[in-house]
Amino acid sequence: MIGAATGKRIGITGLGVNVPDRVMTNDDLARYVETSDEWIRGRTGIRERRIAAPDEALTDIARPAVVAALRDAGADPASIDLVICATVTPDMLFPTSSALLADELGMPDAAAYDLLAGCTGFMYAVAQAYAMLSAGLSRRALVVGGDVLSKILDWEDRSTLVLFGDGAGAVVMEPVGEGGFLGFELGADGAGGVHLCYPGSGSRHFDDPQSILKMNGREVFKFATRVLVASAEAVLDACGKTIADVDVYVPHQANKRIIDHAVGKLGVPVEKTVINVDRYGNTSSGSIPLALADARADGRLRDGALVLMTGMGAGLTWGSALVEWTAGGNGGSGAR
Ligand code: ACO
Repeated sequence: MIGAATGKRIGITGLGVNVPDRVMTNDDLARYVETSDEWIRGRTGIRERRIAAPDEALTDIARPAVVAALRDAGADPASIDLVICATVTPDMLFPTSSALLADELGMPDAAAYDLLAGCTGFMYAVAQAYAMLSAGLSRRALVVGGDVLSKILDWEDRSTLVLFGDGAGAVVMEPVGEGGFLGFELGADGAGGVHLCYPGSGSRHFDDPQSILKMNGREVFKFATRVLVASAEAVLDACGKTIADVDVYVPHQANKRIIDHAVGKLGVPVEKTVINVDRYGNTSSGSIPLALADARADGRLRDGALVLMTGMGAGLTWGSALVEWTAGGNGGSGAR
């Protein structure tokens, strides 16, 4: 699916993120599996990641991110009429985490549902919110992206354990006067799904005692390097832009080597590329909002900046969005 924006300006007016307190270094992981700081840094660029406490679920991690995003937008929670939570690790399959968050945080008029598209979930959710807002069905939407992958990892499998971390982010989206989303490109390839799967998680193998994430790292690596480039080029083309127009590049934070490959192929200057995989690992649906927050903190996400985001992950899925940044913090134009 590919498309340029319809003409109605829809932007991000609030952004908030949150990660669990507990930091786990590569040396810490070497207590669980045979690995080393040197191997993990060299093959992935990851130094440490955040890991949820035993009693911490997705909504516990996402809630502070949502509160921060609403505050950033200057939005009353009651004004939110749509909540989409992108995650593969909801508190439970139902009630949905989006409905729980809407209830806990005071959004009684919101439609709320969870969206499952692996690490691409945040990109899919942003595109859906854009469509609902531009159609006039929603007037102010909340998109949450977050995962607690530590809960579904095989803590004896060194090839997956070292890659992932926990974290969440949230954005408020609504009509804006200037800038906003220019276009999206989203895709899926179920044939490759077997390379990154969670077999015991649904009706096919609901009683599988081995309910853990499984991955063919080499195949996912090949897929990731290909789609990160192809999806970015496709959305730029659809929007009549080139890579030279991009001010901030926000790739999914899976592995520094995958990002380096995309940066080289696309020809994006390193200083325009946001990288925080060293501090958080791969936080799945939390990855892109966490990277946006870092870009804002270091001053790159200024008003008017053209931001290219691309996610990819389980499904297999991928998705890109191009947005002209509008929010300056408390910068919501106020849709109502
Ligand atoms: N520590 C030490 N050695 C390890 C570790 C580890 N943590 N993990 C694997 N190895 C070993 C392997 O067993 C192998 O040993 P062998 O040669 O004796 O068999 C050796 O290191 C090399 O393994 P490779 O798989 O060839 O290593 P590679 O360079 O491909 O790196 C990696 C593996 C990091 C998993 C890489 O393939 C990768 O990043 N793949 C993409 C993964 C990814 O991004 N997944 C998330 C996608 S998004 C989502 O939706 C979740």
